[in-house]
Amino acid sequence: MSDIQSFRQSIEAFIAARGWTPTRFGRDIAGDPLFVFDLREGREPRSDTRARILRSMQEYDDGADRGPLRLGVAGLGNVGATLVGILQQDGEALTRKLGRKLLVTAVCARNRSRDRGIDLADYEWFDDPVALAKSDSIDLFVELIGGEDGPALASIKAALEIGRPVVTANKALLAKHGVNLARLAEESGAQLGFEAAVAGGIPVIKTLREGLGSSRIERVYGVMNGTCNYILTRMGEEGIGFEDCLKAAQELGYAEADPTFDIEGHDTAHKLAILASLCFGCEIAPDEIFVEGVTTVTAADIKVAGDLGYKIKLLGIAQRSSDGIEQRVHPTLVPKGSAIAGVDGVMNAVVLETDHVHELMLAGPGAGGPPTASSVLSDILDIGRGTRVPPLGVPSAELTPYRQAPMRAHEGGYYIRLNAKDVPGAFANIATRMADVEISLESVIQRSDLRVNDPAGEGIKTRTVVLITHSTMEATVREALAHIADDGFIVGKPQLIRIETF
Ligand SMILES: NC(=O)c1ccc[n+]([C@@H]2O[C@H](COP(=O)([O-])OP(=O)(O)OC[C@H]3O[C@@H](n4cnc5c(N)ncnc54)[C@H](OP(=O)(O)O)[C@@H]3O)[C@@H](O)[C@H]2O)c1
Repeated sequence: MSDIQSFRQSIEAFIAARGWTPTRFGRDIAGDPLFVFDLREGREPRSDTRARILRSMQEYDDGADRGPLRLGVAGLGNVGATLVGILQQDGEALTRKLGRKLLVTAVCARNRSRDRGIDLADYEWFDDPVALAKSDSIDLFVELIGGEDGPALASIKAALEIGRPVVTANKALLAKHGVNLARLAEESGAQLGFEAAVAGGIPVIKTLREGLGSSRIERVYGVMNGTCNYILTRMGEEGIGFEDCLKAAQELGYAEADPTFDIEGHDTAHKLAILASLCFGCEIAPDEIFVEGVTTVTAADIKVAGDLGYKIKLLGIAQRSSDGIEQRVHPTLVPKGSAIAGVDGVMNAVVLETDHVHELMLAGPGAGGPPTASSVLSDILDIGRGTRVPPLGVPSAELTPYRQAPMRAHEGGYYIRLNAKDVPGAFANIATRMADVEISLESVIQRSDLRVNDPAGEGIKTRTVVLITHSTMEATVREALAHIADDGFIVGKPQLIRIETF
């Protein structure tokens, strides 16, 4: 019997033994719902495809023999309690998808008596997440406690050290310890999943590790913080100030009681650091990122930007440059017609620019219990199926040291808002100082409705002037602004917002 005949027979026997439909075999084993139909019509798969499918059949059987996949969930807050709720509600469907029962057997949180809206009676309770991570009653450890060190780190390490797979949503911890944890996972042969750590429900990690595994990524950028995006969107739509929008975001549960981490850009920086490592095969370097938050953006900035055809978004951007890798988080003017400008409210989006696929945008909810728990679940299913990929896309020994391109070498357009003293010569001075360093201006705008406040506060009359530059270097812009400030024709700190044309 030829190889292809014996392959056909194995598949028909596999389907018949389980009472499956050809579509189910195609979807769950071959990765193409029409596979069996094509095979029956005489289309012959290549030998490597045949080998892959035979391997998947074997793995399916091994999995079925292994019994249930037992989960230990540490952290039963927003994400953890939602995850357990989904597992309770959709258990059967998930078992069918995995071909193996998926069971929570043990949980851990601080407060045992808190009502979390889920029934915990059947689960073993642990007060100590490290004890749960090491317990023989689980096969996979899920860390949903949070925090960059402390019990989250100790428990993840404890699980990986004994070769137990881990799934976490903890971006702060991964940004700080991701490379060491990836190394530990590789040494012990454990899997480490963290899809939920970047952009909540958006499957960007899987896209980078598997979908685009063979592509060269040139640039990654995105709106990765729902709190900031909600605030900037409302400021733009309703013309209201930052503080009022922040208060509204807090009342709606979109912002933490202490929002500093989000609005100062650090949360975006953590996610960007993880993405940059996956995109460029370099070590994670959260401390090397240029970070500016959204607190200085005014409703007037958003209005002028809008009149000029731009929206303002807090972007995280990482790109290759001749000096290394540029990683930056800052408010950014983006053209209204660009795809990223359409990402409003609490939505997130990540854009990947690659050599072959060109531009790929993934958009969706970046936070919240259900979207985040859904990403945690997708990691659990992958690990349960036996998918094996290095946590950071390449073996950790192959990661290159991170080389930060200096921000002063950044090139691009700039939006500059200045409060110029209302005295003869002020505008001429600004124009001359820009020309001295060869900055070419695309537009100069001075409108009475742009007066933000009286920054001088001492009766000095000022006019608000906005300059839009053509592409120039950050160092050059800063030099011109330093001269303008020294000349004494402006009051207060200039506003500087970078422009991306995408
Ligand atoms: N929320 C989101 O939308 C979102 C999105 C993406 C990623 N994440 C990440 O997901 C993780 C969890 O976030 P979350 O919003 O679910 O947090 P959360 O609501 O604050 O829940 C944290 C849970 O951890 C438990 N916990 C804290 N310290 C503990 C300790 N020492 N021992 C045992 N349990 C402990 C808490 O127990 P008690 O309930 O008893 O206090 C609570 O159940 C974080 O890493 C976060 O960055 C969250």
